[in-house]
Amino acid sequence: MANTVSFMTRNFGKYNPSSLDSYEQIGGFSALRKALSMTGEQIADCLAACAVKGRGGAGYDMGKKWRQAREVNQPRKVVICNADEGEPATFKDRTLMENDPFRLIEAMIIAGYSVGAQDGYLYLREEYSHLRPLFQNAIWQVREKGYLGENILGKTGFSYDVHLYSGAGAYVCGEGTALVESMEGKSGRPRMKPPFIKQCGLFHLPTCVNNVESLCLVPSILLDDKKEYLSYGTQNSVGTKMISVAGNVRNPGAFEIPFGVKVRDIIFDLAGGVKNNHEIQLIQFGGASGKIARPEDVLDIPYTYEDLTAAGVGVGSGAILVIDKRTSVLDFLLATQEFFFHESCGQCTPCREGNTQMKLLLEKVMAGMHTGEDLQNMKKIIMIMKNASLCGLGETAQNALSCAMDLFPECFAVKTEGN
Ligand SMILES: Cc1cc2nc3c(=O)[nH]c(=O)nc-3n(C[C@H](O)[C@H](O)[C@H](O)COP(=O)(O)O)c2cc1C
Ligand code: SF4
Repeated sequence: MANTVSFMTRNFGKYNPSSLDSYEQIGGFSALRKALSMTGEQIADCLAACAVKGRGGAGYDMGKKWRQAREVNQPRKVVICNADEGEPATFKDRTLMENDPFRLIEAMIIAGYSVGAQDGYLYLREEYSHLRPLFQNAIWQVREKGYLGENILGKTGFSYDVHLYSGAGAYVCGEGTALVESMEGKSGRPRMKPPFIKQCGLFHLPTCVNNVESLCLVPSILLDDKKEYLSYGTQNSVGTKMISVAGNVRNPGAFEIPFGVKVRDIIFDLAGGVKNNHEIQLIQFGGASGKIARPEDVLDIPYTYEDLTAAGVGVGSGAILVIDKRTSVLDFLLATQEFFFHESCGQCTPCREGNTQMKLLLEKVMAGMHTGEDLQNMKKIIMIMKNASLCGLGETAQNALSCAMDLFPECFAVKTEGN
C-alpha cells in the first residue's frame, strides 16, 4: 500500500481555514517567529541545504533563488506567489490553498523577510475566484493581528504587506514574466529575457516568484530545522511532493507523497486504479505540457526527478493523467494541441504558427489523409517550436505529440501517398 505523508499538509482538517485564531491554536505563525529569529540568509541557506526544487514546473533551486533575490541591491523588492495553476490536470495548489490558507500567507511573509521585500502579491487564477473571499478574509485578519504592517512582531525595519491579485484566465500568465505584465495592466504576454524578473520584474522592481507548493513547504522545513523534510524521499529527490492524479482513475485527487513511491502504487493504491479495470493506454506526467509514456515503461519506477527523467518523462507540475484504452491516442493529442492553440499568446511565430499548423496536421492524420511529407513537416515544426519559441509554452506544447510519434508509430501510419 502506498503511503501518503502529512508534512506540508499536516494542518489539513485541523483548523478552521476562515479563522486566524484557530490557526494560531495549532501553532500557526510559530514558523514566522522562528524565521524572525534567523537572518534572511540563514533561511535561504536552510532551503538550499534541503535542495528544495521549485514546484511550479521548472524545478529551480529555491534556496538559490532566495539568495539571488537577497543579493539584488535595491531598496524595494517584491515577492509573488504564483497561484495561477493553469496546467490541465493540476490541482495540488488549489488543495493547499483551500485547506490551509494561513500557511501560505505565513510563508509569503517569511519569503518577504528572507529576500528583503516590502510587498507580497498572491496571484490567484481567475478560475479560483471562489477562493478570493477566503484569502481576503485571511489577509485582513493577519493584518489586524500585526503579522503584516510596520515592524512585524517587533522586528525593527521589517515592514511588509500581502495583496491579493486575480488573474484573468490565461494559461500563459502562469509564466513569471507574463504574470507581471498582466499585473501591470498590460496583456499577459511573456517578456524577452534578460533582464530577468529577479532584477527587473513587477513595475521594474526586483521580483521573487514562487509557486504555492514551494512556499507551503517553508514553514514546516524551518520549524524543526529541516530534520523531518530530509528524512523523506531519496538521495537525489529529497522531501515530499504534492501530486494530482486525474483522468480515468477511480479516485482522482491530490496527495502528498514522499519522493520514491512507485508510480503503480500512486495510480492503483492512492487513486484506486483504473475505472472498470480498463487497460491503461498512456500516462502523461506534469500536465498538458508534459511528456507521455506507455504504462509498461513507467508503472514500476519510483516517482523521483531522476527516475522520471530517465524514463523520458518528468515531474513538471506534479500532475499524473491516466488515459485508458477507450480514448484513442490521436483524440488525446488533438485535445492537447487544441488547448495550446487556444492558449498561445500569439506573440512569437514558432508558437503561434506552430500550434496552428500542428492542429491542422493532426486533423489530417485523424482523417487518414496525411502523407509522409506531412509527418516530416510535423517533426520539423516540433523542432522549431522547441528551439525557437520565446517562452516555455511554445517550447513544450508539442511534448505529448513528439513522444506519441515515437511511442505509437501505428497511429501515424501513412495510408495515402502523394498530393
Ligand atoms: C506557460 C507557462 C505556465 C506556467 N504556469 C505556472 C503556474 O501556473 N504556476 C506556477 O507556479 N508556475 C508556472 N510556471 C512556471 C513559472 O514561470 C515559474 O517558473 C514558477 O512560478 C517559479 O516558482 P518555483 O520556483 O517555486 O517553481 C509556468 C511557466 C510557463 C512557461
Ligand atoms: S511561445 Fe507562445 S505563449 Fe510564449 S511568447 Fe511565444 S507565442 Fe506567446
